Amino acid sequence: MRILLTGGGGYLGGWVVPVAMDLGHHVRILDRFCFLPPFVHPETLFPELSTSDNLELVRGDIRRLQEYPNLFEGVDAIIHLAGLSSDPTCDLDPEMAHDVNVECTRELARQAIQAGVKRFVFASTCAVYGHGVFEILDEESPSNPVSVFSRSKLEAETALLSMASSAFSPVIARMGTLFGYSRRMRFDLAVNHMVATAMRQGRILVRGGGNQWRPFIHVHDAARALLLLTESPDSTVAGQIFNIGSDAQTVKVHDLAHLVAEALGGTTVEVAKDDDDLRSYRVRFTKVEKKLNFACAYALKDGIGEVRRFLANPEINPFAEHFFNVDRMKHLRALPVDAGGEPVAARFIPLCRPGLGPEEERAVIQALRSGWLTSGPQVKTFEDMFAAAVNAPHAVAVSSCTAALHLCLAELGIGPGDEVITSPITWASTANTIINMGATLRFTDVDPVTLNMNPACLEAALTERTKAIIPVHIAGHPCTMDAIRAIAAKRRIPVIEDAAHALGARYKGCPIGMEGPCCFSFYAIKNITTMEGGMITVNDATCASRLRLLASNGMASTAWDRYGRSAVSTPAEVVWPGYKYALGNVNAAMGIEQLKKFEAFRASRRRIAEMYLSVLADMEELEVPSVSADVEHAWHLFIIRLNLNKLSCSRNEIVHDLRRENIGTGINFYGLHLHQYYANTLGMRPEDYPVATDISNRIISLPLYPQLSDRHIHEVVSALKKVLSYRRKAR
Ligand SMILES: Cc1ncc(COP(=O)(O)O)c(C=O)c1O
Repeated sequence: MRILLTGGGGYLGGWVVPVAMDLGHHVRILDRFCFLPPFVHPETLFPELSTSDNLELVRGDIRRLQEYPNLFEGVDAIIHLAGLSSDPTCDLDPEMAHDVNVECTRELARQAIQAGVKRFVFASTCAVYGHGVFEILDEESPSNPVSVFSRSKLEAETALLSMASSAFSPVIARMGTLFGYSRRMRFDLAVNHMVATAMRQGRILVRGGGNQWRPFIHVHDAARALLLLTESPDSTVAGQIFNIGSDAQTVKVHDLAHLVAEALGGTTVEVAKDDDDLRSYRVRFTKVEKKLNFACAYALKDGIGEVRRFLANPEINPFAEHFFNVDRMKHLRALPVDAGGEPVAARFIPLCRPGLGPEEERAVIQALRSGWLTSGPQVKTFEDMFAAAVNAPHAVAVSSCTAALHLCLAELGIGPGDEVITSPITWASTANTIINMGATLRFTDVDPVTLNMNPACLEAALTERTKAIIPVHIAGHPCTMDAIRAIAAKRRIPVIEDAAHALGARYKGCPIGMEGPCCFSFYAIKNITTMEGGMITVNDATCASRLRLLASNGMASTAWDRYGRSAVSTPAEVVWPGYKYALGNVNAAMGIEQLKKFEAFRASRRRIAEMYLSVLADMEELEVPSVSADVEHAWHLFIIRLNLNKLSCSRNEIVHDLRRENIGTGINFYGLHLHQYYANTLGMRPEDYPVATDISNRIISLPLYPQLSDRHIHEVVSALKKVLSYRRKAR
């Protein structure tokens, strides 16, 4: 048989390999070998590699099966050992435990089925009996797992058994606690640990009271049992659970301690009574004995003797990190992934995510069923609610913030020969709409603290031909509007605010949007979303109706006005060559629900930002955003700045490192003057806007959205600290 053995480099794998090869099987090991001591290589662990063609190594991570396309080639059976074993290792990160032990098992089985591999033997644990419900437990007894580890194993068992079919034969091996010598030793297992403390410290400390039952099995016997389950016919084992151990080696923990103490002599046994172990399971092994004729060859005493002989070498320190899975895992978690470490976040944390729920789903379906997909009654409701939310007299709903900016420029009649000033730290729309009106784009440099338009630079950029100024409230931090408005007012230049990020922000107590014209975005990841969408707030009714007209092809009425329930149809009159920029009814229906939740969204964003601010404040490799005294930040983005002089790499490498830690980040924004078009065609140079150029290479946006949990925030911060400390410049 050709056997794919996952986790073959581990304690149990160290015996499964020779046992399988002795039985004439070909073994393909998939393992990361991350638990090996630094000086041991897989090739030293498996000398068979150089003497036999029946052993193959695939160095890899069970979480990234897609990287090994030929893994299942020619495989007849799988023995799946890879996983996080032991309670404390899984307790380090329950999400990681779930991902590795449950999701990876499910995925491996799915791929096995696709590849036509039928037999799948899964190494589970008797710990699924946990706090044993009854005195004696067999495979039919109820499980009662009391740890993350055992719950994850039980969940994986259930997943596998539910996949059983005529083409897939999962077999569950619930192993007792392993002991004895193996090529890859562990001293975090009860028997081995007791021998180690007895030999090195002359004592055994029994934790958890000592009255708890545990089944033990020698690791070599366990390997033999796995092979038996692999070779047995479907009629005997398929879709079944087997406890793997022996009744004779199922003992109470304090009895085990005395057994070890007696075998070694000169050892005191202490029982820590205060430290109750919830796990006690007295398991029966009749099924494996009767059905498979399996009997253990090694008694506890044999294993104790073996470990004693191993530790006779005084140079071996059984308490070293690599003998303890939990310590090894702690070490790996402190290492960046590219240096062989473990990602901080078990699952990917995106930069942003829309906050949609059943309310939006219902509203959208209702709007779809109404038949009014484009214009319709929800648009007016949304506009009114939005105007009230930002305390503006009028709001005009449009198809995007880009459309909003375009309409505002069109409404002002901006065209060739005119100049419009904005900031280079913005999204392309702000600048592109200016260019697309045929006007000349002018940038001003930004304020080094807020990244917003710097009023001190604005004055210098004004000319006789300046026809509009577009300040951008970047990340949701309001611009210094008093100064900008004062400069604009002196020359009667209109100001159009780009508030794509700023819904919820306040400047000197007034909501952004209250003064107008002000353009908002409801793109998928903005503070509220309508999928695509935007809004223009204005304080003049004539301006509002002109914008509406421009947004509807220059027609004075929409389809809803002409054909709605109580409308009297009149021909649509074109009064101006406008655009098609109106917001759809279905989008507005979503927007209404989002607005209802907006105060809660705003509060969550603020709380998350405050958490980031407090935990990142004293890191010398970065600067956190600061908030001016007279504003309320909308916290659309949380943009940090790296102090590159303290780091040995570029910002982009830090972004890469964070991605490897499963943290999504963004670069909002890379100065437009540095982009190809503006540099090559418009002749803009990095030195024209030195502050914008400098920060363009230093900023990173961290994940920020209302559903981001405290755990996720903790993971983002831990990943950032880990990556930055690794990349810190040597002093
Ligand atoms: C500052 C800024 N202005 C304008 C826009 C354009 O918004 P929309 O995608 O709704 O057209 C964006 C989009 O991200 C933006 O960030």
